[in-house]
Amino acid sequence: MSLFDKFAPLAAAYNRLESTKSNPFNVTFDRVLSPTEAKIGNRLILLLGTNNYLGLTYDSAVIAKSVEAIENFGTGTTGSRIANGSYDGHNQLERGLADFYGRKHAMVFSTGYQANVGILSTLAGKNDHLLLDADCHASIFFGSRLGHAQVTRFRHNDPNDLANRLRRLADTPGDKVIVLEGIYSMLGDTAPLREFAEVKREWGAYLVVDEAHSLGVLGETGRGLAEAEDVETDVDFVVGTFSKSLGGVGGFCVSDIDDFNILRVASRPYMFTASLPPGVIAGVMEALHQVRTRPALRHRLIDNARRFYFGLSELGFSLGPEPSPVVSALMPDPETAFAFWSQLLEAGLYTNVSLPPATPKGLALLRSSVSAAHTPAQIDYALALFADVGRAMNVIPLARVRKAV
Ligand SMILES: Cc1ncc(COP(=O)(O)O)c(C=O)c1O
Repeated sequence: MSLFDKFAPLAAAYNRLESTKSNPFNVTFDRVLSPTEAKIGNRLILLLGTNNYLGLTYDSAVIAKSVEAIENFGTGTTGSRIANGSYDGHNQLERGLADFYGRKHAMVFSTGYQANVGILSTLAGKNDHLLLDADCHASIFFGSRLGHAQVTRFRHNDPNDLANRLRRLADTPGDKVIVLEGIYSMLGDTAPLREFAEVKREWGAYLVVDEAHSLGVLGETGRGLAEAEDVETDVDFVVGTFSKSLGGVGGFCVSDIDDFNILRVASRPYMFTASLPPGVIAGVMEALHQVRTRPALRHRLIDNARRFYFGLSELGFSLGPEPSPVVSALMPDPETAFAFWSQLLEAGLYTNVSLPPATPKGLALLRSSVSAAHTPAQIDYALALFADVGRAMNVIPLARVRKAV
């Protein structure tokens, strides 16, 4: 018996993939030219799988702020904020996030993953209950399991199922904390947040919404789904990430709850890890400023997302339930997903393969993420490649003609 025997089935599947030369888990970009283009070797690749929703990774002001911070504060903090001190940028970013969301408190974590792990593992104690939407991200499930609360899953986007589960827990002591996402990362669908907010109110629960994919995307000012649905006062904790619309890395949680700051000395994933480097903090601050001052980015993103979603739909692809910057085409099986992905990459288009357990209902998905930085011509080029590969592989009908969007 070896320690690694338990990985044998996974290793066999992975090795089979390696031998086909179409391993999506092993892509290296040799150069990145812009938010939408990169090079693999000498080949120019159109990027359609990067979560760079607003295209801010190459924004000149974001880069300038980041470089300036590196020059003034160095490349890293080399320690945690609790043990080694905060930099002015950490405090400024937290004030900026609190102000953006109109909340009293904000806490920054070193990744979005850690924000969920740090908040959920700490917030809900031994006698409390976490109620998670079944399609929540791995960081939400992992963070919930890491704490001592009772964890219950309810059916995806089903407020009635949540209400039934809360009813069953009504006589059980402890607080009830509901966790949802704004835009779900695999199928790009949004939560019916108004109905969920009603259930939350009825049962006196707390509500956490992870706006990782909806920050900068939804809402009048880009605060996410809760803003778009006008239920922000029902959301007790907003969690989010800097790694998508804000083009950096890191995560956060904002809240109006008075005692919130005690989490700084209670949450191990906040306390026992190095804080974000100054260059990242400064770049994220500038990106947040751009979310606030350039609504046109959001509008362009939505236009591009609709163009791509309805374009694929016209071609005959089966997609997630609604247009959003996450556009996933359903593939009949993982092998087809890998082959489709590989042929697109051969043709110069980078997308993502998403498989169980990351996907809901055991689906095999070819997932794309659209950016405000894509031109309509790039979107149309991607659609043409999807059409060619889809027809050649019999994933879509041969003769369907795409109407103009
Ligand atoms: C809903 C959700 N929450 C959290 C995360 C983790 O964020 P990060 O990758 O910035 O750590 C992700 C990542 O994809 C996500 O989709």
